Amino acid sequence: MVKRRQSISTRIIISFVGFYLVTCIWSFAKLSKDGDSNSCHHNNDPTQSLTGQPHRDWLQRRRSLQDQKTTKSYNFTAALCVCVKDAEAYFEEFIDYHLAMGFSNVYLYDDSPNFELQRWYNHTRAHPDYSKVEVLHLSDARNPKGSSSSSNEEESNDDDDNQQSQNNQQQQQMLPVDPQTDYYEDCVHRFGFNGPKHDYFAFIDVDEFFVFVDESNYHNILDLLQDYLVPFGGALTVNWMLVGSANKSVYAPLPITKRFQYRDEKAHFVIKSIVKTSDYLGHRNPHAVYVRDVVVNGTNTSNIHTTAYPGANHKYALTPRGATDKTCPSKVVLLYHYRYTSDKEYIFKRCTRGGTDGGHYWCSDGGQGIRQGYGPQHIQSIPGSVFDDKAWKFLTSHVPKYQMYDSFEDFH
Ligand SMILES: *[C@@H]1O[C@H](CO)[C@@H](O)[C@H](O)[C@H]1NC(C)=O
Ligand SMILES: *[C@@H]1O[C@H](CO)[C@@H](O)[C@H](O)[C@H]1NC(C)=O
Ligand SMILES: *[C@@H]1O[C@H](CO)[C@@H](O)[C@H](O)[C@H]1NC(C)=O
Ligand SMILES: *[C@@H]1O[C@H](CO)[C@@H](O)[C@H](O)[C@H]1NC(C)=O
Ligand SMILES: *[C@@H]1O[C@H](CO)[C@@H](O)[C@H](O)[C@H]1NC(C)=O
Repeated sequence: MVKRRQSISTRIIISFVGFYLVTCIWSFAKLSKDGDSNSCHHNNDPTQSLTGQPHRDWLQRRRSLQDQKTTKSYNFTAALCVCVKDAEAYFEEFIDYHLAMGFSNVYLYDDSPNFELQRWYNHTRAHPDYSKVEVLHLSDARNPKGSSSSSNEEESNDDDDNQQSQNNQQQQQMLPVDPQTDYYEDCVHRFGFNGPKHDYFAFIDVDEFFVFVDESNYHNILDLLQDYLVPFGGALTVNWMLVGSANKSVYAPLPITKRFQYRDEKAHFVIKSIVKTSDYLGHRNPHAVYVRDVVVNGTNTSNIHTTAYPGANHKYALTPRGATDKTCPSKVVLLYHYRYTSDKEYIFKRCTRGGTDGGHYWCSDGGQGIRQGYGPQHIQSIPGSVFDDKAWKFLTSHVPKYQMYDSFEDFH
């Protein structure tokens, strides 16, 4: 009897050890797999390597976060500065999503000639969430240049880092001054240096959503900033992930993160920036900022970082526009860019609404379609090849009212 009991407990111990070993091997295999994935152009980028300090830090963080899923309270705040036009179909979803992620306020600059969002603004002042959204008209901006413009990065070729540097300089001189950067600068002055004095700002568009690559590591932007920006100051860059049309042909009244769940295989080299207010000097373009240098060993050094590992330098900060990162750090966070949506919406955005000067630049005659084989790769609509519902999962778990949309079918 005694012997039999011993053998049962021995078996239990053996199965525990066995389970533990299997778990370790599985985790290790998973880490190795994560480690060699997703570098856009440079497979031999040392920052992507799994050896050395960054890797150990990463492992440590993974372990510690398993015990600690609740969001800590921080003595700093982060806000969003966004320029919008014709965005009413999706902008409440954009707001719900990013407030749930820990951004404390959203500053929307309405680029419509007649301040179309004023009524929405007036009606939401007592709303528990939307009262955190300040809406300003274009004419409120500190330094408005030109009367109306939705021009942004899409008017220019973001891949200018591939060109000869001489070409670049010429190109840069020809590029129009981008009015969008005035709104951004106004935003930081009004709500960072003054007003509520937010400590950090992200500058994105309403069709861009931050997505944590592994939500068991991060689900709050403040946790991410605490690890990747607060200790270093300056700015942090986040690469795009292009989300495709999923072959949708027209608009349907469903959330954007539900309708479009097919993305590119790998991150895109274009970046957007999150900046520390006290280090902010201005915008270079909608993607990149100027921040105060840090002095390292007596040399002024760019203080722009990436999420390759905490403190990683943004090597492309010194390129003519600083708008790319071709190492595409993809382990922590990416900016999912719902650039295309349905075919009809995309043609409207590109060709009907257009931009200021070169608004119809990428469009075929008559504005009925996008010119093929012309312009940067990301101008052509893609259906998307990899199923990925992380953004939708994030939204439905943090803002449960969206779950009802799962009972709708989408035939378009
Ligand atoms: C926030 O707290 C940290 C210590 O946790 C401190 O070093 C820092 O100065 C504080 N920042 C502000 C803005 O109070
Ligand atoms: C919004 O409120 C402002 C201030 O009360 C008022 O001047 C404006 O006409 C209102 N706009 C709309 C569209 O209701
Ligand atoms: C889009 O359509 C193409 C051609 O029919 C098909 O190969 C592809 O799998 C579709 N993609 C999605 C995300 O539906
Ligand atoms: C600064 O100088 C020290 C001593 O020469 C050196 O060990 C260190 O690597 C340098 N740091 C950087 C970032 O170059
Ligand atoms: C670093 O930049 C600051 C401000 O532009 C300048 O005053 C300082 O002389 C520079 N220091 C070095 C070592 O280049």
